[in-house]
Amino acid sequence: MAIAIMTSGGDCAGMNPAIKQFVDYCFNKKIRPYLIYDGLEGLIDGDIKEATHDDVTGIMHEGGTKIRSSRSKRFFEYEYRKIAYENLQSHGIDKIVILGGDGSFRALNQFHQDFGVKFVGVPATIDNDIFGTEYCLGVDTALNVIRQATDAVRDTSSSFRRACVIETMGRDCGYLALVSAITCGAEVCIVPELEYDLDVIGKRLKSELADGRKYIVCIVAEGCAEDKCTSTNQLVQWLEKDIGIETRATILGHVQRGGNPTVYDRLMAAEFVTHAVDKLLKNEKTTDVVVYNKSEFQFVSIEYVNSQKYKIREDLLELARRLVN
Ligand code: F6P
Repeated sequence: MAIAIMTSGGDCAGMNPAIKQFVDYCFNKKIRPYLIYDGLEGLIDGDIKEATHDDVTGIMHEGGTKIRSSRSKRFFEYEYRKIAYENLQSHGIDKIVILGGDGSFRALNQFHQDFGVKFVGVPATIDNDIFGTEYCLGVDTALNVIRQATDAVRDTSSSFRRACVIETMGRDCGYLALVSAITCGAEVCIVPELEYDLDVIGKRLKSELADGRKYIVCIVAEGCAEDKCTSTNQLVQWLEKDIGIETRATILGHVQRGGNPTVYDRLMAAEFVTHAVDKLLKNEKTTDVVVYNKSEFQFVSIEYVNSQKYKIREDLLELARRLVN
């Protein structure tokens, strides 16, 4: 039996430990493991290789994905999916573990509808924005990267009596910004999921400054673009003009996608992948996604994952409400 693994869409820490676990576990189960390089693009181009131990030796601690990733436009077209299927057939592969976001799962679901290739999706994105799972691989590492950067920016802000605005990634989802604001002790948290009133926040900040506050940490989600809510630049202007405090902005950007996977992400990678391989070994028709909820791994259909938009837990939003008042 032959199973392949691929990584698709935005890379994240935890993908390499997942690839290593996949290969080691397949060998243990006497299955031939294959690596599809460059995500869906590599599937079309036939960049597929039977894995050896050497391919995954020494990758556990590395961020990113050794088999690389891509966002493929060609895969939307049937003729390229057909080529991809023929590539898989030439290696005798009819099962895939795919690490990525819901867009990648949708692409493989179409592939399954076309050619019957079975797959299990492992939610892997720093955005933590996949409906049906509380946790996506890579989130813990990204949060720790943000924490480290925020602690460093706070050092310099406090030395200068300044405010800092730190922008996190997350696409349209404010999860990274929200959890970072709570865990880094920010004074302000601006995310698309929380209503806020800058006048109310402004009154609080002015009173705290009058009371001796020396610096302000403000964390904003990249999803807060100008047309939706207040962007990073607008917050800087507001802090300088309305609050009267010198302000600097730090856009963390792609640094959040890298770094050595944390212990938690390494463990989650091992567990997610083992569940995915076990599911495929049952030889059922599957287009499922492994999800993690309330400390348990479960399987849900791709239709379920696509049925709703991910929502941040209400109790987490509640914890951050004082940062928008
Ligand atoms: O989905 C992961 C993510 O890092 C988002 O947080 C971000 O908006 C986007 O990908 C950036 O994409 P790219 O790497 O293509 O610039």
